[in-house]
Amino acid sequence: MTQQDKIRVGIFGGSGYGGSELLRILLFHPQVELVFVTANEQAGKPIGEVHRNLHGLTQLNFIAAPEKLEGIDCVFLALPHGQAMEIVPRLPPDVKAIDLSGDFRLREQSIFEKHYKQPHTAMHAQAEFVYGLTETNREAVKSARLIANPGCFATATLLGLAPLVANNLLSGRVVVDAKTGSSGSGAKAAANTHHPQRMNSFYAYKPFTHQHVPEIEQELDHIGDWTSELIFMTHSLPVSRGIFASIYAEANREITEDELRTIYADYYRESFFVRLVSGSPDINWVKTSNFCDLGFAARGRQIVVFSAIDNLVKGAAGQAVQNMNLMFGLDETTGLKLVGTNP
Ligand SMILES: NC(=O)c1ccc[n+]([C@@H]2O[C@H](COP(=O)([O-])OP(=O)(O)OC[C@H]3O[C@@H](n4cnc5c(N)ncnc54)[C@H](OP(=O)(O)O)[C@@H]3O)[C@@H](O)[C@H]2O)c1
Repeated sequence: MTQQDKIRVGIFGGSGYGGSELLRILLFHPQVELVFVTANEQAGKPIGEVHRNLHGLTQLNFIAAPEKLEGIDCVFLALPHGQAMEIVPRLPPDVKAIDLSGDFRLREQSIFEKHYKQPHTAMHAQAEFVYGLTETNREAVKSARLIANPGCFATATLLGLAPLVANNLLSGRVVVDAKTGSSGSGAKAAANTHHPQRMNSFYAYKPFTHQHVPEIEQELDHIGDWTSELIFMTHSLPVSRGIFASIYAEANREITEDELRTIYADYYRESFFVRLVSGSPDINWVKTSNFCDLGFAARGRQIVVFSAIDNLVKGAAGQAVQNMNLMFGLDETTGLKLVGTNP
C-alpha cells in the first residue's frame, strides 16, 4: 500500500488517556497516516512531551482545531461527553467518524439526557450511528459511516453476557459486579485518583444510576430476547488500568461448564480478541492489549461469567481501531496484535 492509499486520520482529544492509546496504536498502524491531533489545554505542545511514552516517535504537535477536514478519511473523537454532538453534524459527508464518548450510543434522547445530565443537541444524527461492539455488530460496522464506540464497562459486560442472551439461556435476574481502574476517569487529576488515596482504596459508586446501564440493556435487546432484570454495580479498584466484571446469572435449565465453553466458543468462533480461559481471567494478562478474556463456572442452573479487559484498549481505543479496520475493508486485527506484558 502506498502512502497515498493510507487511511488519513485525525484525532480530536488526543492529549487524554483515550487519545494516548489511539496514538500508541495508530502511529504504528501499517495503513494509517496520522494527519492531525487536537487538544484543549495542551494545544501547541509536542505529542511526545505530553505522552512521554511516545517521546521521539512522532514529530506532530497538538493543535487546537484542524483548519479543514477535506482529504481526511476518518476522525476519532476522544472528547468529554457533550463535545462530539457539536462536531459530528459539521463533518463533511465523506468523513467517517468513531466517537469514544457516550454522545451517540443511546437511541432515546430522554434516556441520554437522564443519564448524562445534559441536553442532546444533535439527536437527528444518532440514527446513522452503529453501536460499535465489534463482536456483536460486525456486519453493520463494516458498512457504517458513524460509530458509537461502546463504554468500557458496557464492553466487558456485553461480551460476557452476549452468548447467554443470543442462545436464550437466561431466566431471572442478572447481577453484574464490575470494577475499574483509575484511568477510567480520564487524565485530569482528581481527589479520588490521587495516588496516596487511590492506591489503598476500594469503593462502590453510582448504584443503579451508572450511565452504561441503558446502553447495556439496549444492546442486549438487540442481541436476543432480553427479558431479565439487570442489577449493575460499579466499583473502583486500586489499579491504573483494567476492568473486571463478575456476572451472576441463572440458566433456564441445568448446564455444565463444558457446555458453556462450547456455547461461548461457537459464539466467538470468528472473534480473535475474545479468549476463553480456564478459571478466572486476570486484568494483568489483558492490560495494554485488545483482548477480552472470559472465564466461567456453573453449578446446576447457576452461572458465573468473569470478564476482563483493558478499559483503554478493548474498552476504548483498541475497539475503536478494530471498528475502523472493518469500516475500511481491512482485517479487524490490523495494527492491533498487541500483547500484554508478563508481569
Ligand atoms: N478513560 C477510559 O477508560 C474511557 C473508556 C471508554 C470511553 N471513554 C470515553 O472517551 C472519552 C475521552 O476519555 P478520556 O479518558 O481520554 O478523557 P481525558 O483523559 O479527560 O481526555 C479528554 C480529551 O479531551 C480534550 N478536551 C477536554 N475538554 C475539551 C474541550 N472543552 N474542547 C476540546 N477538547 C477538550 C482534552 O484536552 P486537554 O487535555 O488538552 O485539556 C483531552 O484531549 C470520554 O468521553 C470518555 O467517557 C473513556
